[in-house]
Amino acid sequence: MSHITNINLSKKSWDVVTEKLVIVGVYEEKTLSPIAEIINSSSQNMFKHAINSGDVNGKVGTSHTFYFNDKIIILIGLGSQKNYDANIARVVAGNASRLVIKKNLDSFATECFCGGEAKHCQFIGEGLVLGSYEFLDYKTKKNKKTKLESVTIVGCNSSLLEKGFEIGKSVCLARDLGNHPGNVSTPTKLAEIAKEIATEGGMKLTVFDRKEFTDMGMGGLAGVSQGTDEPPKFIILEYYGGGEEKPKVLVGKGLTFDAGGISIKSAGKMDEMKYDMCGSTVVLGVFKAIAALKPNINVVGIIPSTENLLGAKAYKPGDILKAYNGKTIEILNTDAEGRVILSDALSYASKHFQPEYILDFATLTGAVLAALGHVATGVMGTNNDLMDTVKKSSSSTGEKVWELPLWPEFCKQVESDIADVKNMGAPGQAGTIAGAAFLKEFVGEGIPWVHFDIAGTAWGVKPNSINPKNSATGWGVRLVLDMLEV
Ligand code: BES
Ligand code: MG
Ligand code: ZN
Repeated sequence: MSHITNINLSKKSWDVVTEKLVIVGVYEEKTLSPIAEIINSSSQNMFKHAINSGDVNGKVGTSHTFYFNDKIIILIGLGSQKNYDANIARVVAGNASRLVIKKNLDSFATECFCGGEAKHCQFIGEGLVLGSYEFLDYKTKKNKKTKLESVTIVGCNSSLLEKGFEIGKSVCLARDLGNHPGNVSTPTKLAEIAKEIATEGGMKLTVFDRKEFTDMGMGGLAGVSQGTDEPPKFIILEYYGGGEEKPKVLVGKGLTFDAGGISIKSAGKMDEMKYDMCGSTVVLGVFKAIAALKPNINVVGIIPSTENLLGAKAYKPGDILKAYNGKTIEILNTDAEGRVILSDALSYASKHFQPEYILDFATLTGAVLAALGHVATGVMGTNNDLMDTVKKSSSSTGEKVWELPLWPEFCKQVESDIADVKNMGAPGQAGTIAGAAFLKEFVGEGIPWVHFDIAGTAWGVKPNSINPKNSATGWGVRLVLDMLEV
């Protein structure tokens, strides 16, 4: 959870706030940040002395603690003033929260670190919350608990701080759902969270259970979920704040545990397949932020959710399933199940919502890890303008994407000899693109669409102050909110 649940904006100068701990910034250029610089304050000589001595160099990640009168003041590195940007702002704010967690205090005050540039306030709000994220829900010992709850931000009272704070909380919801194990983050749990979000945001929620979606013709989700007793769900959230405009549709893979099915995975790291629902948490995270911020847009979220297990009833290699759009799917590997459940979600979105565009998020292939590691999400799509918008939001949020080509040669590789499509491409080749080529068959004619393969970025990324170790990342929530101009 994000420990910071309470944010206060104060117009007071940082040297007169009541909190015991105050954090202010210093640049590599050896100048204090505009908010930290208070002429006549007796602390300034102390700071100048520390800076001139060479001990304080202002680099990002550095901090120095001063005990002055009855306060603890931490001088935190902001890096070079001329290079300061959104990504650094988030990491600096994250550093501030991490420092306070280490000191085990319940509250602190900090300057805004926006350098007087209002646009940075949002990123400070995001960074403070993300930096305060820890997943300790299953630690029962009291000394493992963190006290931090509230932060007072001085020097700025921009509403962008509060917006950033809400966005940060939404990313943390996505992380929490990903981090909970498969016996807790079940399809039923995802539906319950969707219900909470719908209630908060005045949204319509529809949940189809196994019998309903099977009767409706969703043969993909019905097939994959045959092998589990954990009740599967098909979840639809609808938010209409934008009048008559066509909705944007977000689809997320909600595979709450992927054992591979009859084509079983090897045991090593199989526990990580609890994260196989992180596509769905992008959708839920985005909808949580929408519920709080109520933007003037229309958005629909669709989550097909089930486990992929083995057993007497499980679907098998060789089976042929019929998706919601009527196309038949030859199953050659039951571990390529994500695309099979998404086939129904993409068909449903295309048929019922006249989408302006569709984005889907899925931990779809191990192959994307081989191509892009834990650094970037693989993206593929059918519309250049939409892809450009994705790339623009990627660079403004720092959530990296890299486009892979969805050429006709690859699309041919998912044609089946006996059904319309097969759920694998050429063995050992271009596996990530084969996933997208398969999904494309279920997107309605002419609907702009981009597929995000987040198997490398949803967890396992290099930790920093806003990304803890051994945690789901919530990757994509910020990028989508930027795209939607929330
Ligand atoms: N959930 C996995 C993808 C995955 C694997 C994510 C490893 C992160 C780490 C997906 O359902 C899967 O098993 N994909 C197969 C597809 C293959 C059988 C065509 C894969 O990537 O091995
Ligand atoms: Mg699988
Ligand atoms: Zn999977």
